[in-house]
Amino acid sequence: MKVAVLVSGRGSNMQAILDACADSAYPAEVAVVISNIAGAPALERAENAGVKTVTIPHKDYPDRETFDQRVTEEIEAAGCELVVLAGFMRLLSEQFCEHWRDRLINIHPSLLPSFKGLDVHERMIAAGVRFGGCTVHYVRHEMDTGPIIAQAAVPIHPGDDADTLAARILEQEHVIYPLAVKWIAEGRVRISGEAVKVSGARAPVGALVNYQDA
Ligand code: GAR
Repeated sequence: MKVAVLVSGRGSNMQAILDACADSAYPAEVAVVISNIAGAPALERAENAGVKTVTIPHKDYPDRETFDQRVTEEIEAAGCELVVLAGFMRLLSEQFCEHWRDRLINIHPSLLPSFKGLDVHERMIAAGVRFGGCTVHYVRHEMDTGPIIAQAAVPIHPGDDADTLAARILEQEHVIYPLAVKWIAEGRVRISGEAVKVSGARAPVGALVNYQDA
């Protein structure tokens, strides 16, 4: 399955997917990486992996719809069937989300539907929750919503700050994102109402308990 990855920054999730693609048994291939930010580190990583990159600076476009239309043109020109948002820090228009409905996925560094939006690590620590995590989900127009494909939970430790927590969550992001793309490419993923069913996938199933001593 040909995949387009949309990035704005560092690109570590994109890298995790590229690394997975290096295995000939992996059922997806990144055909194009698109950035709205010129010089984003993710672009160099993609070039190093021999993947085509396109920069579409959003500031060059009069409105969100025109920018999104340009992005769609590039994705379609590359023949992609799946669009993967990997640290793409720009809201997408309703038109774009509808065009790519059920073919557009995102990763977010929280256990959605908790902690949507920005500064999630700081907010989780301030709220005193005992677990954080990450979520791969299909994208709906409303920010950080849509049917959930996979989640991973990590404990939040008493001494954590936003950086240590972000690093712990990121490690899990790099596990579940390539896994979710694999499941989709293998045709295992079905959306049923607002829920997602994955058939025949192998992943650890378990329960976690975490608390903070007084
Ligand atoms: C990741 O932590 C991702 O979950 C987050 O941005 C980071 C991008 O890192 N995405 C969002 O917050 C989207 N709402 P990366 O560029 O190294 O993959």
